[in-house]
Amino acid sequence: MKPWTFIHTCDMQPGSPRSFRFNPRFMENWQTARKQLAEMAADLMLVGGDLTRDGSIHDFELETIKAELDALPYPYHAIPGNMDTGNKHASVDGATGREDTRLNVTAEQLNRFARFLGEFPWSFVHKDVRFSGFYAAVAGSGLSHETRMWDWLENELPTASRAKHHVMMMHYPLFIDDINEPTSDLTDPDEYIAWYFSIDQPHRSRIFDAFKSTGVEMVVSGHIHCRRAVQEIDGIRFFKCAGIAMPQWATKWEDGHPRLGFYRFDVTANGIIDTFIPLTFESQAEGAYGPGGHPKPEQRDYAMAWEKG
Ligand SMILES: [Fe+2]
Repeated sequence: MKPWTFIHTCDMQPGSPRSFRFNPRFMENWQTARKQLAEMAADLMLVGGDLTRDGSIHDFELETIKAELDALPYPYHAIPGNMDTGNKHASVDGATGREDTRLNVTAEQLNRFARFLGEFPWSFVHKDVRFSGFYAAVAGSGLSHETRMWDWLENELPTASRAKHHVMMMHYPLFIDDINEPTSDLTDPDEYIAWYFSIDQPHRSRIFDAFKSTGVEMVVSGHIHCRRAVQEIDGIRFFKCAGIAMPQWATKWEDGHPRLGFYRFDVTANGIIDTFIPLTFESQAEGAYGPGGHPKPEQRDYAMAWEKG
């Protein structure tokens, strides 16, 4: 067979100078990535969520990133992240004062993302690979999108035609260190970040079971912005991927790499080979304004925006 290439990128979240907050560093890193991506030869690209910084409230961020991705010389297939829609469902507020239950993903946000960047979950076969993508953050929400997710995972995918390989993409990693680790407690300050970066039980095990029954061979996830050495569990390779905008959790793992960049995957007769492509330049641009994290509506001051309107 003739080897061919696909790309995975995620967490570019450049933001916009029209927003109540902006970090030129994130924007410059995305523009560097965009130039590198435009020079890649690939059949397609997977985009693993957090395409925007505040796509959950700004249509113009979704419009801009769509135009930029449309201009690349190959097709792409995107799933949302929490910055594009809303956070993973929480049934109580956590320890950070963020009021997590107010940040829960909503049907309106999910539908807006789909309007700009396409319906999800999706699954298709290209050459000898089946690609699938979904947004696990809806687990436990009770939204119709959750019902759809389980039906897709447990009824549709198992009956879909099998390809030689099956690559699954999600935004939130299924777990931090161990597929069997307990759910982290978001009300415990020491566990909040781990909760924020992973999927709760029992959803995690249910999703993992679905992966095993649908022949998934690799899972690629974003959200943490720290690439970690690949972990193999029950024959499935789990890739925790680098971010584009900025690194996070840089000191969490000894085998973690905070360098920004994206993956190139080469599909060969010997399997799917991963190569990390670092950004050629990591911005240190200054001039950021506005709050970080997940600010409340009253903390959004559009008078600070560089570009009005
Ligand atoms: Fe995220």
